[in-house]
Amino acid sequence: MAKSFIARRHLHFQGSLMEEVAELSKGMDDLIDLSIGDPDFTTPAPILEAGYRDALAGYTHYSPGKGYPDVIGAVVGTYKNDLGIAIGPENVIIVASGDYASFMAGFATIDPGDEVLIPDPSFMCYRYHVSYAGGVPVMVPTSAADGWRFSAKEAEKYVTPKTKGLYICTPNNPTGACMHPEDMQAVYELAEKYDLLIYSDEIYTAFSYEVPFCSMLSIPGAAKRTVVINSLSKNYVATGARLGWIIAPPDIIGAIAQEGLNMVYSAPSISQRMAKFALTQGKPFMEPIMAEFKERMFKTAERINRIPHLHVPSPPPGTFYLFVDVRETGLSDYEFVLKTLKEAHVALVPGSDFGACGTGFVRICATVSLPKLMEACNRIESMKL
Ligand SMILES: Cc1ncc(COP(=O)(O)O)c(C=O)c1O
Repeated sequence: MAKSFIARRHLHFQGSLMEEVAELSKGMDDLIDLSIGDPDFTTPAPILEAGYRDALAGYTHYSPGKGYPDVIGAVVGTYKNDLGIAIGPENVIIVASGDYASFMAGFATIDPGDEVLIPDPSFMCYRYHVSYAGGVPVMVPTSAADGWRFSAKEAEKYVTPKTKGLYICTPNNPTGACMHPEDMQAVYELAEKYDLLIYSDEIYTAFSYEVPFCSMLSIPGAAKRTVVINSLSKNYVATGARLGWIIAPPDIIGAIAQEGLNMVYSAPSISQRMAKFALTQGKPFMEPIMAEFKERMFKTAERINRIPHLHVPSPPPGTFYLFVDVRETGLSDYEFVLKTLKEAHVALVPGSDFGACGTGFVRICATVSLPKLMEACNRIESMKL
């Protein structure tokens, strides 16, 4: 066989360090895995039962391409009741996960050669979603010194005539940084000035500790140039449901719906039924889970700061991730992750996986119990740093 059948596009993609860490940790019986952003909680039973009940009642077929009207209604109701934001059903499409929402948002709006600004560090998939559409990801630095807050002023330095849009995510994975209303306003003004589309990832809305969560859609005028990405995964600890939604102007929703018909046709019907229950009646079941996440985050951040040479914002601003500064150890983030894996049997993710600005930092997921998080910290402390 003389040629590779793999698309050239794929050959350019680098493997992630996270995958390498997962490979190395195989077979460690006492491993504490703090590398994956998948909460340890099972989705609350009433949410699962709602999906089951509706499945028994016949919701086991394709749904309409944009999703069931009452699930779309639940998204509309959530933005209205929780955030005071008025959207209509024509602004919503239900899709198979937040990841897919981001991919579809890019695929429907980015032309080959378009540049898209992305915060550095941030969720690694954005770069791929832009590239899959033929676009060019352009990383905009953020820094620990500024609390990792995304700055429109900094982003402006990277705007060219080819810039089509920009991603924002609040609270941010991996840094936890929360955008404040004035940050969002500045992003909106930048987008207005250069006629940009804003891809606003709002997947961690329930995990904003520093400031109340602020949606891009709450900025007057922003809705006409904003594509919101959201999902059931984190706010309702339902990563396995693979259920998300997009809020955007109707023409963008139309383009996404058309493309979606040729990809998965519709989002999973049973997960949509879970989403309807979660969004309309699920909050009380999430309260104890959210309280536990907060306790884990706050106590683990305090504990980490008592380990020599490690630093992390305390109290943490948001999400269930702690982005720990390991520069003082003299190790690179990758070396630090290898060391904790080999010597402490604790799996972390190197910050550089999320962008060059994450170099020197490691991400810890508070997705295991507090005693396990404390045990992980004890093990890390007993390593020679
Ligand atoms: C910032 C961000 N956006 C989107 C996603 C995708 O989530 P899902 O596809 O599970 O909805 C993740 C997952 O970790 C994330 O961290």
